[in-house]
Amino acid sequence: MPQAPSPATPTVLCRGVTKRYELGARSVDALRGIDLAIEGAGFYAIMGASGSGKSTLMHLVAGLDRPTAGEVSVAGVRVDRMSEAELTMYRRRQVGIVFQHFNLLPSMTALENVMLPALLDGMSRAASETRARQLMDELGVEERAEHRPDALSGGEQQRVAIARALFFAPPVILADEPTGNLDSAAAARLFALLTQIARTHNTLLLMVTHEPAAAANCQRVIVLRDGVVAGAFDTTTPQEGKLDAGALALRAQELARPTW
Ligand SMILES: Nc1ncnc2c1ncn2[C@@H]1O[C@H](COP(=O)(O)OP(=O)(O)O)[C@@H](O)[C@H]1O
Ligand SMILES: [Mg+2]
Repeated sequence: MPQAPSPATPTVLCRGVTKRYELGARSVDALRGIDLAIEGAGFYAIMGASGSGKSTLMHLVAGLDRPTAGEVSVAGVRVDRMSEAELTMYRRRQVGIVFQHFNLLPSMTALENVMLPALLDGMSRAASETRARQLMDELGVEERAEHRPDALSGGEQQRVAIARALFFAPPVILADEPTGNLDSAAAARLFALLTQIARTHNTLLLMVTHEPAAAANCQRVIVLRDGVVAGAFDTTTPQEGKLDAGALALRAQELARPTW
């Protein structure tokens, strides 16, 4: 008898994920039971009101923090159960991280920033420089390779951060409001670049954004509300075709709205 195909291992799997921050006598339940399974590669938007838990979720998937309870797995491996040493390796090789604040080391050149994870990993200088320059070329910042971050525009710094995130071709890249500190023209260029990267690199790009026009370039939108997944929808449906930014914003707001 033919065997049923084994279900694909999700790239990102969250089951019953909670996160409580203790603040002295007070506590904040930032995540209250996140269930999420995303298979394969692609480009996903995460939306939701300020304070709904988007960044907290990114931190847990990034292995920067641990859930209070529940499972966080990436490519079939439990991130929530990793030792500190395993987390260090995980963050270096398995997940790329791009934040709103550009997070480049100010004393190093752009090129050195891109090479840093590889050098820390023991890769030769020559090999890591070749890979870093190739990625910087793809991202349009090769000419800025010898500059330090403070000599780069915000958009250029973010491209350098993306090149660094792509270095080891991780299964997941997390971008938490990557254009939050950019002007609208630079933001539009960065969104276009991220869309292209999602197409050309075999990775799952998870992007937190408030911009419906940017989310419209993603294949699916996941909406958080009060620390849970309020819902999710594809940006292209058989009935409606491709949602434009306005239709997408309405859809996301309906899900994000508190139910009281
Ligand atoms: N380090 C922290 N300590 C205490 N509370 C936090 C911390 N980080 C986030 N929170 C709280 O958790 C909730 C969710 O925050 P966050 O994940 O940053 O939301 P979002 O990114 O959707 O705006 C908020 O109420 C926020 O104030
Ligand atoms: Mg946030």
